[in-house]
Amino acid sequence: MSSDSGSSDGELRIEASLAAFGPRAVAAFGTAATEQELRFARAEILGKKGELTAILRGLGQAPADQRRALGERVNGVRAEVELAFEARLSAITSALRAADLNAAPFDMSLPGRSAERGHLHPITQVSNEILDIFRSLGFEVAWGPQIELEEHNFTKLAFPPDHPATDMQDSFWVKVTGAPSDARVLLRTHTSNVQVREMSTHTPPMAIVSGGSVFRRDDDVTHSPMFHQIEGFLVDESVSFAELKGVLTEFARRLYGPSTPVRFRPSYFPFVEPGAEADVGCVFCSEDDGTRATCRVCKATGWLEILGCGMIHPDVLTHCGIDPERYTGFAFGMGVERVLMLRYNIPDIRLLFENDPRFVAQF
Ligand code: PHE
Repeated sequence: MSSDSGSSDGELRIEASLAAFGPRAVAAFGTAATEQELRFARAEILGKKGELTAILRGLGQAPADQRRALGERVNGVRAEVELAFEARLSAITSALRAADLNAAPFDMSLPGRSAERGHLHPITQVSNEILDIFRSLGFEVAWGPQIELEEHNFTKLAFPPDHPATDMQDSFWVKVTGAPSDARVLLRTHTSNVQVREMSTHTPPMAIVSGGSVFRRDDDVTHSPMFHQIEGFLVDESVSFAELKGVLTEFARRLYGPSTPVRFRPSYFPFVEPGAEADVGCVFCSEDDGTRATCRVCKATGWLEILGCGMIHPDVLTHCGIDPERYTGFAFGMGVERVLMLRYNIPDIRLLFENDPRFVAQF
């Protein structure tokens, strides 16, 4: 007898297994005490290697004209078993929930889990530290915008129109929709815009310090396209380079320690005359063998440049409505990241902006 003609024997055997299968499955679900046990039972009964699959495989042995009807019976039984599974599952979950609700209330006297405390970013910490030093020297704090008119960032600071800093390669220029075409706007390249804004709206005497983000098209291990500066200036009658040196030397000693050596070197910025750069003695090689030859931080010079400064150019005072015959003043600007990198010997400026908690938590 070929297997595809089937036999009524086969048919009987399938009927018998089906009849026993349903109640056995329901009983197995009934004894499952947890959702995990229940799902395990379901896999044994309805899964690929389960009983029902075996019965289905046996269908081949039934006579061909019976297979369809038997197939429908198998599906009917499967549906019933599925229903029994769902019913047991919901019984188990509601029992669990009821037990939860009836259990003793949780212990409110247990200590809580405390949230980790954050702190200010190292850049903010150092900016505040620097601003505090100048505040204690009598400077007032003022703020300026990061999106600025060319006039405040360059023109009134006596940058000639073809100065390389004004180039597309060096500055981020901003297109302002709806603004007149001659309104040239950029992300400020330094905090010196605050000098222009404050001097144009106040009359001397004044001593102001400011800080914030500035932007330049620069990107390597020591330069970031966004970084931070602190800027300050003082205008009064008969202010000389001696006051500049006095204030900035005192500042450097408060920031780097009372015996820090400070020196001023001539330098050029369009908005000051004379202009200078201030250096402090290298903090990394001072304990050295005296030759400094091995110090990579100061490149064996023994000095670290910390800021630019100078006497405010008379043209700048004039542009801001201050009479240069009567008043003089000095100004200075410094990079905050540089102070941090020098203080902690941080090799890559990008560490300061990635905000990896393993780095930031060390400050
Ligand atoms: N604005 C200058 C810079 O960004 C720094 C500076 C400020 C120099 C004030 C002199 C006086 O490099």
